[in-house]
Amino acid sequence: MTAPTPRAIRPAQGRLGVLLPGMGAVATTFMAGVESVRRGLALPIGSVTQMGTIRLGKRTDNRSPKIKDFVPLAKLDDIVFGGWDPIPDDAFTAATKAGVLEEKHIARIADFLKALKPMPAVFDQYYVKKLHGTNVKTGKTKRDLAEQLRADIRAFKAANKLDRLVMVWCASTEIFIQHSEVHASLAAFEKAMEANHPDIAPSMLYAWAALMEGVPFNNGAPNLTVDFPAMQELARQKGLPIAGKDFKTGQTLMKTVLAPMLKARMLGLSGWYSTNILGNRDGEVLDDPESFKTKEESKLGVLEHILQPSLYPDLYGKVYHKVRINYYPPRGDNKEGWDNIDIFGWLGYPMQIKVDFLCRDSILAAPIVLDLALLSDLAHRAGMSGIQEWLSFYFKSPMAAPGLTPEHDLFIQQTKFKNTLRYLMGEDQITHLGLEYYQSA
Ligand SMILES: NC(=O)c1ccc[n+]([C@@H]2O[C@H](COP(=O)([O-])OP(=O)(O)OC[C@H]3O[C@@H](n4cnc5c(N)ncnc54)[C@H](O)[C@@H]3O)[C@@H](O)[C@H]2O)c1
Repeated sequence: MTAPTPRAIRPAQGRLGVLLPGMGAVATTFMAGVESVRRGLALPIGSVTQMGTIRLGKRTDNRSPKIKDFVPLAKLDDIVFGGWDPIPDDAFTAATKAGVLEEKHIARIADFLKALKPMPAVFDQYYVKKLHGTNVKTGKTKRDLAEQLRADIRAFKAANKLDRLVMVWCASTEIFIQHSEVHASLAAFEKAMEANHPDIAPSMLYAWAALMEGVPFNNGAPNLTVDFPAMQELARQKGLPIAGKDFKTGQTLMKTVLAPMLKARMLGLSGWYSTNILGNRDGEVLDDPESFKTKEESKLGVLEHILQPSLYPDLYGKVYHKVRINYYPPRGDNKEGWDNIDIFGWLGYPMQIKVDFLCRDSILAAPIVLDLALLSDLAHRAGMSGIQEWLSFYFKSPMAAPGLTPEHDLFIQQTKFKNTLRYLMGEDQITHLGLEYYQSA
């Protein structure tokens, strides 16, 4: 058998700009973490690109390099951070207010954080009801505003002598917007920007500006943002990767592990009640029913897709699925996610699973931001454009090509992710068939 051909990948030379719309809890935890790792003060725990390995060839070959040594990723030292926020706080103040990191972990990199000041944002309170922004751009049309973002991107690139850029949306969850005719084609979208159409949210303007400037875009929130034909058309036209949506961190991460287990063993499910308490700004934003609706849609789709009730009506045809998020200030960023899962087994006997995940939201999200930044830059250099389904691993509500059901099962996502890296580097796919170990020569 001939070895597969590796894909041509431009080397990761020069500096990589990581642009973050939204410099709140997740973004500052991410930047502080990367800087701490760069200074040798911490390990990049939770980052699959930095800590993970990948098996190559047969199990008997004993080849399991670190992912970062296998694929040509940008080095952490080559990353330069930038971002926008309607709140003018520098990253030191924002990280202190977010209360994710302890004072001692912020103080030791205070100089670095204080130098990170957000550019004025494209922000409109209509889309995030609970926020009041002062560091905000003005412009006659949404097109004007998006052009200002393009100018920011160009200026940032020149000022920092960057070779390449990527963008990761770490800003608040916007109100729920449904697909409409303005999202159907690039021409319609651009016309609607000029006309200040309400279905064009700020996140879409950032995404459009990024793509117009040759910058891959990743969406960490459940907003529509790039999940519609106009943006996919633009991404393909410009040869750029796009990925989304909504970082898969706490409760949904658990759900996409437990639900496949039930299905793998043909155990039935009658109900799944998920509730969360959290007290950070994200929790406050999600306290608004319109922003919550966006999050709810993102969280609810998971079970339906994994359990396939149409294939297994007896097991999953009558699932009662409820997701709640309650803003509870005393908890800050330390979310508590409870799941009560009512299942049934042999002869229909009921059983229950209870999960109480005392997690830290931004601690789980920060390494995802790093991985997405590095991997979308890799995808760009490898000439991959449009939706990057192999990055579903990182998302609650993965984007997929029209007509395809998204893949939610964490371990299928992981296999897809690692096989894509093998494909890029011209290594054999791993099918886990494994019969060769048992066949006599
Ligand atoms: N932490 C997690 O586990 C997790 C998981 C999945 C998704 N998310 C999403 O990530 C996003 C960030 O979460 P967070 O905890 O950092 O929230 P946060 O409220 O601390 O930070 C969001 C920041 O975005 C800013 N912002 C709002 N609108 C903006 C705009 N138009 N342009 C630029 N900045 C804008 C806000 O001022 C705020 O500083 C949220 O949408 C959240 O739902 C977080």
